[in-house]
Amino acid sequence: MKPSSSIPLLVPQLPDRQALSPYLDEIDRNRHYSNFGPLNQALEARLATLFAEHASHAVQVTTTSSATLGLELTLQAMALPVGSRIIVPALTFVATLTAILRAGHVPVIADIDPHNWLLTPEIAEATAAQTGANAVLAVAAFGQPQDTRRWSEFKRRTGIAVLIDAAGAFGSQWVEAADIPVIYSLHATKSLAAGEGGMVVSGDPAINATVRQLSNFGINLDVDAGLPVGHLSLAGSNAKLSEYHAAVAHASLDQWPAKAQALQRLYRDYRQALNNACGTNLQWQAGKSLAAPTIFCVRMEADARNRLEALCQQQQIATRRWYQPLLHQHAENVGPTIKTPVPVAESIAAGLIGLPFSLCMTSSDIQRVTHAATSAITQDINLTSSETLEKHHG
Ligand SMILES: Cc1ncc(COP(=O)(O)O)c(C=O)c1O
Repeated sequence: MKPSSSIPLLVPQLPDRQALSPYLDEIDRNRHYSNFGPLNQALEARLATLFAEHASHAVQVTTTSSATLGLELTLQAMALPVGSRIIVPALTFVATLTAILRAGHVPVIADIDPHNWLLTPEIAEATAAQTGANAVLAVAAFGQPQDTRRWSEFKRRTGIAVLIDAAGAFGSQWVEAADIPVIYSLHATKSLAAGEGGMVVSGDPAINATVRQLSNFGINLDVDAGLPVGHLSLAGSNAKLSEYHAAVAHASLDQWPAKAQALQRLYRDYRQALNNACGTNLQWQAGKSLAAPTIFCVRMEADARNRLEALCQQQQIATRRWYQPLLHQHAENVGPTIKTPVPVAESIAAGLIGLPFSLCMTSSDIQRVTHAATSAITQDINLTSSETLEKHHG
């Protein structure tokens, strides 16, 4: 019998009005609504303390209005020559690409590791040798952390600059190497959510000071900078985090440990159920267990993936081809890119499927998804032709 209720892909859960209330009261008292106000300063200090627990150096945290702007402004703060070639993995969200283009550089699209689905220092080194790239924007894809110490060693050895897009990896990705800036998203769907927002975290005070200035149009506010205060000394943007967003981020941080545990439990039970039912027909991203998983992605044989998508569509179970099209498959006129062969990314993408994942899921929802996956693998399905249409998702 066909189940009637739908299972949504993601159901973000941000702090409710009661949890926000003390922070909103503070805004009412402060009457400071943006421009690096007290809540924003307290948030940065709170996060810097947390990051410092996982580093042997002081850590700077600078909030931005999104991770995309954080990436763009960090690239600008790194002062690479205009038109630098910057290596990115083919399997990532489009913002990784657009940030490079908008910062005036040329993305070099590279392949990924077959096991952890990430751009690694080895792949970056080979790609740089082929393309003359002078920087790398590595990604903590699907929240799987990058090894900042290995990237720091890569940077020292090759002279190639590195930054990390860890948009979805708060709590799993730390900033252990002082010279590798890491950028996080505070979007509603992410591990630490403010609704919208981002942050640049590094052990390099100069990078963070420049990102801060760039986030405020490029206006100099530093009395010691040797420039008049209030004068523009860089061409920045408006990428400030408002006090309201900072309030949500504070309340999210208060609730984060409990939420992270619940997400871990759900992820573990869900994966176990699928593994019990489908065994070696499923392949998972290799790496660390995530502190707060927010999406649920698995690889299957391509035909089984396509059948599962169609079956889920029929049964109102939402799915998503995360990070597809791959970066090299987007429209040519988006901007100049250098494409290298990406057979591993293409082969992984052909079988990847993002399944529903939210704290609203019940064990019967997990059973429904598991049953659909088993049917797709064993070909025990009954579809109408309209449900076999190809789906393309970002
Ligand atoms: C890998 C990656 N980079 C960048 C972003 C953009 O983050 P934001 O929405 O905060 O700009 C995302 C968002 O999903 C992402 O997954």
